[in-house]
Amino acid sequence: MPLNPAKPVYAISLNLVGFTLKGQNLSSQGFDVRVFTISDLERVMHINAKCLPENYSSYFYRDLYTKYPETFLVAEADGEIQGYIMCRIERGWSKKGKLSAARLAHVVSIAVMESHRRKGIGKELIVQSMARARRLYDCDEGYLEVRVSNEPAIGLYTKLGYSKVKRNYGYYLDGEDAWVMAVSLEEF
Ligand code: ACO
Ligand code: ZN
Repeated sequence: MPLNPAKPVYAISLNLVGFTLKGQNLSSQGFDVRVFTISDLERVMHINAKCLPENYSSYFYRDLYTKYPETFLVAEADGEIQGYIMCRIERGWSKKGKLSAARLAHVVSIAVMESHRRKGIGKELIVQSMARARRLYDCDEGYLEVRVSNEPAIGLYTKLGYSKVKRNYGYYLDGEDAWVMAVSLEEF
């Protein structure tokens, strides 16, 4: 039946619980992204230990959180944290070849528990962290180091617009090389 134009048509108010545009909660994708708090520390250190050979003291995490809380994010799914990203904000030369100084958002570490990979969590952690680095810390570029053999991570970064800007020979403790990959934050 056609709507009667003489009658006001009320907007249907759908209460999409946990879903906010441009926002923090992304329940529609099956996970939430939010800022880290100290009570998440143990779980984040556990994820790091399970996923990466580069491990850090609790002091290291606390220090990054104290200095750059806005870009230290976690992803929750199935009622538990399944991924994290943490960054350091630095001043340095542009990694993108511009002959100028830049404010850089350095992704120090990102990991997603194996059972929760390929659901878009890693992508969302980077997108939100880089957008916040641009907006809240006035950063121009993002960069990171990644093992040259780490195809999943290189695939993720490439998809998000990062490009390889330098090879750091013997960067890791076991002698493996790193790609330095960088992106302009105008993309975020
Ligand atoms: N092979 C190829 N491409 C991949 C892979 C893979 N195994 N995983 C992700 N990608 C690419 C794809 O393009 C993917 O899109 P698609 O699924 O539509 O094809 C895109 O990245 C997005 O993938 P997400 O689902 O968002 O990534 P995920 O949540 O699985 O997290 C991560 C990726 C963080 C690299 C995960 O594999 C991981 O935790 N690995 C172990 C820890 C690690 O290597 N961390 C990075 C170290 S470097 C650093 O920390 C700076
Ligand atoms: Zn680094």
